[in-house]
Amino acid sequence: MLASLLPPEVAVEEIFGDPEDAVLFPGEEAVVARAVDKRRLEYTTTRHLARTALARLGLPPVAIGTGGNREPLWPAGIVGSMTHCRGYRAVAVARAGAGAAGLGIDAEPHGPLPEGVFDTIARPDEMPALEALAAERPRVRWDRLVFSAKESVYKAWFPVARRWLGFGEASVGFVPVEEMSGTFTARILQSGAPITEMSGRWTIESGLVLTAVMV
Ligand SMILES: CC(C)(COP(=O)(O)OP(=O)(O)OC[C@H]1O[C@@H](n2cnc3c(N)ncnc32)[C@H](O)[C@@H]1OP(=O)(O)O)[C@@H](O)C(=O)NCCC(=O)NCCS
Repeated sequence: MLASLLPPEVAVEEIFGDPEDAVLFPGEEAVVARAVDKRRLEYTTTRHLARTALARLGLPPVAIGTGGNREPLWPAGIVGSMTHCRGYRAVAVARAGAGAAGLGIDAEPHGPLPEGVFDTIARPDEMPALEALAAERPRVRWDRLVFSAKESVYKAWFPVARRWLGFGEASVGFVPVEEMSGTFTARILQSGAPITEMSGRWTIESGLVLTAVMV
């Protein structure tokens, strides 16, 4: 599903569930040493998927630790992103310079956001287009799609910018291509931002909203 949102030079691995042969490498273990089982499993599975994806790029198996801002620590020369939600896990990696300076992926359940959340993540300038899209394509949960797109933007943004980006500091615009999939652009509105625009794709499949962006 997610591979359809990214170009072929990006290695994508996704799975529903947690494979029994997935293991943590030294350097990863400490991150989830005191975590509950659910967290440990999602962390272990995404690392397992990351090693499979990196092998497709010709890299040996290495630990993918976690930085001080929770960002995954990729091997030198690699950009990538991870997501997990409700039993679904996915990883996307690419060689830096193969057209990508940054990557962000996100998966969310295709259901309404909790009460009050949309108002805190959407900008007034995004509303007119979203209202028109909601009237045109009522089956799409546009509130959840905005949330997912902005989380993908943040995951691609952080490793490049090394600083926080608030939901109000990006303005997203969506273009449907098919009934439940399409493209989007994000304008970054933070002053002095090292990235000012990102483009991405979205799809709704198997009860999930999936988004991916490349810098
Ligand atoms: C970091 C954040 C985006 C993660 O999203 P989430 O829905 O909680 O969880 P997901 O499963 O989709 O993604 C989690 C993964 O994101 C990645 N991630 C977390 N922080 C990250 C960062 N600073 N930079 C890059 N990737 C990061 C990690 O790989 C993490 O999984 P792991 O801890 O198992 O390694 C979210 O918690 C957050 O803090 N959002 C606020 C910032 C934001 O989105 N701003 C919008 C800007 S327009």
